[in-house]
Amino acid sequence: MAKSSGLFVCGNCGHEELKWMGQCPGCKEWNSFQEMKIPAKGKAGKSGGYSATRPTESHQHIEAQPLSRIESASHNRLNVEPEEISRVLGGGLVIGSVNLLGGEPGVGKSTLLTGLALQWAKQGVRVLYVAGEESPSQIKMRAERLGFDPKEDEGFLIIDQCRLEPVLELLYADRAANPGPAVMICDSIQTMHSENIDAHPGSVGQIRYCGGVLSDFARTSKCPIFLVGHVTKSGTIAGPKILEHMVDTVLYFEGDGGGPIRMVRAVKNRFGATGELAIMEMCNNGLIPVSEAGALFLSQRQGGEPGSCVTAVRNGSRVFLVEVQALVSPSRYGTPQRVVQGIDSKRVALLAAILEKRAGVDLGGCDIFVKVAGGAKLDDPGADLAILVAMASSLREIPIPNDTLVLGEVGLTGAVRRVNDQNGRAKEAAHHGMKVVIGAKDSRKTIQGLQLVSAETVGLAIEAALSKSSRGQA
Ligand code: TYD
Ligand code: MG
Repeated sequence: MAKSSGLFVCGNCGHEELKWMGQCPGCKEWNSFQEMKIPAKGKAGKSGGYSATRPTESHQHIEAQPLSRIESASHNRLNVEPEEISRVLGGGLVIGSVNLLGGEPGVGKSTLLTGLALQWAKQGVRVLYVAGEESPSQIKMRAERLGFDPKEDEGFLIIDQCRLEPVLELLYADRAANPGPAVMICDSIQTMHSENIDAHPGSVGQIRYCGGVLSDFARTSKCPIFLVGHVTKSGTIAGPKILEHMVDTVLYFEGDGGGPIRMVRAVKNRFGATGELAIMEMCNNGLIPVSEAGALFLSQRQGGEPGSCVTAVRNGSRVFLVEVQALVSPSRYGTPQRVVQGIDSKRVALLAAILEKRAGVDLGGCDIFVKVAGGAKLDDPGADLAILVAMASSLREIPIPNDTLVLGEVGLTGAVRRVNDQNGRAKEAAHHGMKVVIGAKDSRKTIQGLQLVSAETVGLAIEAALSKSSRGQA
């Protein structure tokens, strides 16, 4: 029996405490604490730590090396197809990197990685797919659906095992025998378990230990790895704090609420920009990148209704047009409701306060509902003005013209500030048929072919958006 470490870890967010608690002080989840059992010395081998499972000496001679002689990791990348995923990873897969792919069950994590694996196998990269969740024949069936070719894809190898020790032994032996480029995929980290840890598979202790040992393998053997992680109901990867610290990139795989669109978002990337977004469609033969993704979130838009406002947001290097929808009406009940979807609710509360104080719009006693259409998420401050204008449009029951884009950050004083990359955003909007942009004060009359209506304050921006006659006067 392993000795108790007296450490309790939240299975939802990874918060650690010395005693068990009913509610996690970190993420406020109830009943999420699990006891971490660390093996007593001797059980796990000489060191009792990760190195016990690695076939290397724990007391090897080490030496400090000059930084100038160390090869930069970013120069060593494997080609990734499709380009959408390559961009999210920062331009290919860095050799020796540890990548975490999180998502709800059934969203398409195994489909995405099998598709990538087939591309690598065709390029002569060896793929070691550790299958903990499905049988090899199920994986073969999926691979055939994605275009598996027995001649071209010979380098696609399945390891049908969930126990860490034999997997690790096989991985190190395989790397020693085949020094060429290789990628390891662990589907999923929750199914892996080590005999050194006295806890069931999927527990925080097992995830932390197996994740650590596999990361160690990736870095020492220069074999990039993908760890698949399931998300919990609150949308976070189980034990995310533990895994997120260990890995180089964290990718979240999201659906659009039942439809075929899938989004892969980089929330952490040591080798590229965070916030990058790949948009794909789940088809019969796998995930296909969506063309014209810039206007994807507008595809269901009817337009012409009060409370709907289009803005352009940046996600990493890409610009997307999104529709902010607001419904503001006098409350029938005592306490007005504030319900927000796809935007931080505190931000909407702040913008509502600016609207009241700086634009003289009376929202007292009004219910406010704000959402972003198409399942998009807004964290770009450049959408502030559009949220404000949508709320004003709904309250006054005046629609914003269909061809009008609203761009601007808003300060507490009610001043409208310029967004970053205004030209790039206007260019994408012009490409999708927008004609007018309402934005911060600017000496130009047009941006990328769009007529510019400058507004110094939120009040002026609302007037410009809600009255056609004021266009061109600013
Ligand atoms: P899967 O990759 O198994 O999800 P995860 O690993 O995240 O649990 O994807 C499962 C879903 O994707 C399933 O509902 C079937 C669907 N699918 C397609 O629509 N087309 C395809 O080509 C494949 C392989 C799966
Ligand atoms: Mg799967």
